Amino acid sequence: MTATLITNIGELVTNDPDADDLLGVVNDAAVVVDGATVAWVGRASGAPSADAQVDAGGRAVLPGFVDSHSHLVFAGDRSAEFAARMAGESYAAGGIRTTVAATRAASDDQLTSHVARLVQEMLRQGTTTVEIKSGYGLTVSDEARSLAVARQFTEETTFLGAHVVPADTTPEEYVALVTGPMLEACAPHARWVDAFCERGAFDADQSRAVLQAGAAAGLRGRLHANQLGPGPGVRLACELGLTAVDHCTYLTDDDVAALAETGTVATLLPGVEFSTRQPYPDARRLLDAGARVAIASDCNPGSCFTSSVPLCVALAVREMGMTPAEAVHAATAGGALALDRRDVGALVPGRRADLVLLDAPTYVHLAYRPGVPLVSGVWVAGRPV
Ligand code: NIG
Ligand code: FE
Repeated sequence: MTATLITNIGELVTNDPDADDLLGVVNDAAVVVDGATVAWVGRASGAPSADAQVDAGGRAVLPGFVDSHSHLVFAGDRSAEFAARMAGESYAAGGIRTTVAATRAASDDQLTSHVARLVQEMLRQGTTTVEIKSGYGLTVSDEARSLAVARQFTEETTFLGAHVVPADTTPEEYVALVTGPMLEACAPHARWVDAFCERGAFDADQSRAVLQAGAAAGLRGRLHANQLGPGPGVRLACELGLTAVDHCTYLTDDDVAALAETGTVATLLPGVEFSTRQPYPDARRLLDAGARVAIASDCNPGSCFTSSVPLCVALAVREMGMTPAEAVHAATAGGALALDRRDVGALVPGRRADLVLLDAPTYVHLAYRPGVPLVSGVWVAGRPV
């Protein structure tokens, strides 16, 4: 294996948990990458020699973003629904069915090339690990093929058959299908099971049934909850000890206390509030209570069609009370926690060498210069891409 020294890094975000500051920042830094992993980090002046050398030109370098929540397997376009919303319509869970019809009608190749395009788009913006859900098929075969497509791009695949009840069935029949034959067909392609616990989608008992059946099939649990209003989802996620509960827009004091106590990661998706004109979740309240927080894109055709984690970081800082350091941590180390991944989310020896180079002197520019394409280089598993 060849070792590469990346030197002349103006500011390096390591997310070293043993550092005094949240991000483990090292100035005038260097990183040695050996094969796919980080072998050494520290001040450039103390760097060991390596087979090859790369000059970062004084740029800031941070761990690749870990986007722990996306719905990339879909077809069709809902820009008219977005435009109607911006003209005063409100967002409702039922819009999902529009995408379901288009997704069922698409070929495997069409779905695959669409996911490939979105994953590339994410990569250019610094996302080096992405979770991808099913949920726009809602038949046994369409959910299974959605996951088989997603699996070509990531190990972090999530079975979301319980996204919404399709038009031609009852909730009881559909939950029986999701927890029975659909789960059986999907479990081999998935690492996670998820449900949309919300008015207009699935209630707490139905969500619990789906999560428990998924667990019995060997899948780990995560949940969409408290997105459109207060509800039982966050407490259900904490009670079941799920790894993460996502959206968390409407929280009671009890919800916040449960998150802080159990360590279930609260994944905030500010692109959704941006694209639906809903109030943003209060990240400050969660952090001050001691909850673990992640930020992700939720890239999907309905509530939020952005693939940009940098945009989400900027929104989290401007609209959710996070500092730039907290937001960057949530989009890297936080995402890794939300996927229970110990190999990504930090640049310390032994981690996968997933790096983002910014055309900026500091990570703060991600929020200070919103909308500017600052990502000038991305490395995945020790190689520039
Ligand atoms: O995460 N909340 C549920 N699912 C997606 C939206 C799906 C859609 O509108 O197509 C979300 O926001
Ligand atoms: Fe989602």
